[in-house]
Amino acid sequence: MYKLSDLINKLEKILTNKNLSETISLRISISENYDFQINNLVKHQNHQDIKEITESFSEVINDEPYIKNFEITEKYFINLEIDVDKFINDSRNFKQAIKDKDSKTIILDYGGPNIGKPLHVGHLRSLNLGRSLYQINKAAGHNVLSDIHMGDWGMPIAQIIGFIDHKNLDIEKVEIDDLEKIYPESSALYSANNDFKEIAQSINKELNQNKENVLKKWKKIKDISIDSLKQTLKILNHDFDSWMGESDVNHLIPKMINKLKKNKKISLDNGAYVSNLNSDPKILITKSDGSYLYLTTDLATVLNRIELNKFDKTLYIVDKRQKLHFEQLFKSIDYFDFGNEDYEHIAFGTINDSNGNPFRTRDGDTKKLIDLFEEASTYIKKININLDKKTNQLLSNTVLTFSDLITNRMTDYKFDLDKFTSINGKTGIYVQYAQVRAKKLIKNSDIEMKKLTVDISKIDDSDLNLIRGFMKFENYFNQAINNSEPHHLADYLYEISNLFNSMYQNVNILDNQNKVVKNNKLIISQYFIEYSEFLMDLLGLEPVEQM
Ligand code: ARG
Repeated sequence: MYKLSDLINKLEKILTNKNLSETISLRISISENYDFQINNLVKHQNHQDIKEITESFSEVINDEPYIKNFEITEKYFINLEIDVDKFINDSRNFKQAIKDKDSKTIILDYGGPNIGKPLHVGHLRSLNLGRSLYQINKAAGHNVLSDIHMGDWGMPIAQIIGFIDHKNLDIEKVEIDDLEKIYPESSALYSANNDFKEIAQSINKELNQNKENVLKKWKKIKDISIDSLKQTLKILNHDFDSWMGESDVNHLIPKMINKLKKNKKISLDNGAYVSNLNSDPKILITKSDGSYLYLTTDLATVLNRIELNKFDKTLYIVDKRQKLHFEQLFKSIDYFDFGNEDYEHIAFGTINDSNGNPFRTRDGDTKKLIDLFEEASTYIKKININLDKKTNQLLSNTVLTFSDLITNRMTDYKFDLDKFTSINGKTGIYVQYAQVRAKKLIKNSDIEMKKLTVDISKIDDSDLNLIRGFMKFENYFNQAINNSEPHHLADYLYEISNLFNSMYQNVNILDNQNKVVKNNKLIISQYFIEYSEFLMDLLGLEPVEQM
C-alpha cells in the first residue's frame, strides 16, 4: 500500500538500525477488526532488543495519520486499522498512488503466432496475460512496448511453399482458409515423404539465401496471414506496438555466430555450434547442417531489440512447456555478454476441455480463437437477446478474458463456457453487471459528485465493508505487478463487485428518506465505478454501458 509507504520506510529503518535488513510486507488482515497486518516481528520475538524495537514501532505507527488504531500482539503480530474517514475522503488519487518513481522501459513479448496458422486456444493465455501486464506496467508509469514476435521464417514456411508448388496451386489465389488447411497437410507430408522433405529443405535453404522467387512466395503467405491475424485480434480487442518476427532478425545471425566464434563462446561439435558454457543439457546454437534453431533466432532478436529500443527488461509471456528454452536463452544472454538488461519468462499452464484434455475441436484440431469467440457470443445472446452487437462483443471478450485471468497463471484450468457466462459466481459477467448497476444508479440520481464527501458517522456495515475493500487496491496491485500475476486484480475486482452488490441490495438507495445516507451510498457507488473501471482497464476488459 503506497499510501503507507512512508510508514513502511520508517519501520524498515528501525530494523536496519538493529542490523535486521528486511522488507516489511503489509498483508491484508484476516481479522474482522483490522485492515492490514505486519508479521515481520514474529520471527524476531527472541531478539535481545525486541522491547526497544516494539516501542519504536509503536511510536512510528502512532504518528501515521492513516492509521486509526493498532495493536501489537503477544506474539508480535501487528494489526492495523485504517482511518476510513480520512481514506475515503482522500482517495480520489488512487491511480496516482501506484506510480513507480523509477520508470523503466519494458518489452512484452507475447502472442507469438506462427504465420500460416490461425490464432487458436493455445494463444489465449499469452494474449490475455500479455495485454493485462502491459496495462498494469503502464499504469505504474513504465514505458511499455508490446511485440507480437511472429513465427514467420524457416522450415514450416518452406513446407507450405513446397506444398503449394507440389500441388501446383496458384499462390495468387491462395486464401487464408486454404492456408490453414495447407499448414497441417504440408507438415504431415514432410514427415511421411522423403522426396517432399528434400524439396522443403532446399526451399528453406533458398529462403535463407533470400532467393527472389521464394521470398516473393513467402511475402505473399505472410501478407495473407497478417491480414487474418489483424482481423481476429481486432475483434478480440488486442493491439501490438511492434509486428516484428523471426524473419526480421535472420540476417543478423551470421554476424552473431561469427562474433561468438571469435570470442570463443561457441565451438563446433559434429557440425553444430554448441555453447562453451558448461550446462546440462548442452546448449545448441545451430544444428549440425548449419541451420538455425528457435534459440538462435531468439538470441538475435535480443541483440536487435537492444539495438533498436534501449530497454530495461523483457517479459516473455509464453507457455510453461518452453521453460527450458527460456532458461537456455537467459543463461546464454548472460554468458555471451549481450548486456545487463533483465529477462523473465512469464510462464502459464494449459487450457483444458471439460474432461481435462487439451482443448480441441471435434475433429481433433486445436480450436480457433475466433470460433471460441463466436461460441461465447452465442451464449451471451442466450442471456439477453436484445443486446446490441457492440455490447455482445464486449461481453464475449469479457468472458474469454476474465475467467482466464482469475486463474493463477501457472495452473491448468478447464474451459467451461456454461460456468464462465454465469451471472453468479466469479465471472466476467458478474463484474460487468455490478458496474452497470452502479452506473444506472448514479444516472437515475440527481447527485452532484464533485462537492460531496462521505459522512462517516452515518455509514452502515455494508458501506464500511466496501470502503475497506477499496483500501486493499494498492496492496493487490503491488502483488500483481511484482509477480506478474493479474489474477490478484481479477479476484479483487470480483471482491469489490460483490461488496457493492451487498450494499446495493441492503437498502433502497434512490428512495431513501435520509438524505445523508442516500448521498453516502451514491458517493461510495461512484467510487466503486471508478475502481471497477480502472481494474477492468488493468485486466484488458472494456466496461459495457448496459446489460
Ligand atoms: N512462435 C512461438 C511458438 O509458437 C512463440 C514465440 C514466443 N516468443 C519468443 N520470443 N520465443 O511457440
